[in-house]
Amino acid sequence: MDKLLITGGRPLAGEVAISGAKNAALPILCAALLSDEPLVLTNVPRLNDIGTMLKLLAQMGVKVERDGDTVTLDAKGLDNPLAPYELVKTMRAAVLVLGPLMARVGHAKVSLPGGCAIGARPVDQHIKGLQAMGAEVQVEHGYIDAKVGKLRGARLFTDMVTVTGTENLMMAACLADGETVIENAAREPEVVDLANCLVSMGAQISGAGTDVIRIRGVAKLHGATHRIMPDRIETGTYLCAAAVTGGQVRLTGTSTNYIDSVVDKLMDAGCEIGSERDAITLKAPARLKAVSLRTAPYPAFPTDMQAQFMALNVVADGTAIIRETIFENRFMHAVELIRLGANIRIDGNTAVVTGVDKLQGATVMATDLRASASLIIAGLVAEGETLVDRIYHLDRGYERLEEKLGALGATVKRVS
Ligand code: UD1
Repeated sequence: MDKLLITGGRPLAGEVAISGAKNAALPILCAALLSDEPLVLTNVPRLNDIGTMLKLLAQMGVKVERDGDTVTLDAKGLDNPLAPYELVKTMRAAVLVLGPLMARVGHAKVSLPGGCAIGARPVDQHIKGLQAMGAEVQVEHGYIDAKVGKLRGARLFTDMVTVTGTENLMMAACLADGETVIENAAREPEVVDLANCLVSMGAQISGAGTDVIRIRGVAKLHGATHRIMPDRIETGTYLCAAAVTGGQVRLTGTSTNYIDSVVDKLMDAGCEIGSERDAITLKAPARLKAVSLRTAPYPAFPTDMQAQFMALNVVADGTAIIRETIFENRFMHAVELIRLGANIRIDGNTAVVTGVDKLQGATVMATDLRASASLIIAGLVAEGETLVDRIYHLDRGYERLEEKLGALGATVKRVS
């Protein structure tokens, strides 16, 4: 199993290009299921999760072609609406095939994702929404087995803000009879990117980006070309890494749009941020100031940046209170950061982080995607060598991580 060996102590400096957003690409790949004409996507990141999704779509009968960061999907021959456990267990986002399959062929058999390292993560809201649209859903033998003659538009309300839940129901509603209204919808930029792609395929959607989305069903969606938005979490992760190492970087192919809450905290920590149309610059202060934060649905601070900001606070001046409100078990990185010398106290969903002057390199274990990123960031500033084990999590969500960090002057090596 691969590990990453990081030699800490060098400030990040230089320029790096940000990739397309994993969490926008995954639902948009599934949108191809809604049409029998080709969907051409550009700026698709090369990530294991994307590979898993393409494999799943191919198993369903979708023709998949990949050329660099362009992916062409043709779902004319869709004939097997099944998402097996073997694929869903490695990537929960596979549940995003459920809505489009129900809309296009009226049948889907999708493995229940089960729990994951950061929490229980049920999909009851996806199921409840489809039932309200007329679907008959059985959950048996670990599978969601859903059937419908034709989905009909409905008024849907989700009990909590759910990103993939909103995306699944929005895709389902595109080909339903009549109007669907999703209330308490997720406002995440990735939901808007999906809506933009669906609209370019002929869908009638308004309100994406607000908490009420209206979809008027149409008979058919056609082919389209769509560019995936930049990855705001990858952007935030590199900004954090530069900040923690006392560096100065320019990130291209991205912008401060959609990361206001993250930029705001970085400025509170003492960083200078410059915003260009298609790039962001960051200059770190001599010593970062501690910044408290609370995760919540967009536009509030993203849970996917919580671990990276914990790494930032670990070496900042002062004490930060971090509250995680989205996932019940998302502090697994804390115990590993403590192995590097961090001073962190956990009490339920609250972490109290008191900055220390120095971290020392050690062997640490990655537990999930963003936890891995926080350990890398800490390793970049720790004295000596840090060995991060189980980095397969990172390959799910960060494109060419060691190459990009290397381009910024970090000493990061993949070892077997
Ligand atoms: C998406 C993101 C993930 C991010 C998360 C929160 C993708 C592919 N993944 O995950 O990176 O961390 O949003 O911003 O876009 N919930 C239920 N029942 C449901 C659905 C959700 O109880 O049917 C709960 C979850 O357990 C969680 C909360 O709602 O506590 C929010 O989860 P949700 O927004 O659905 O996360 P994902 O869409 O899985």
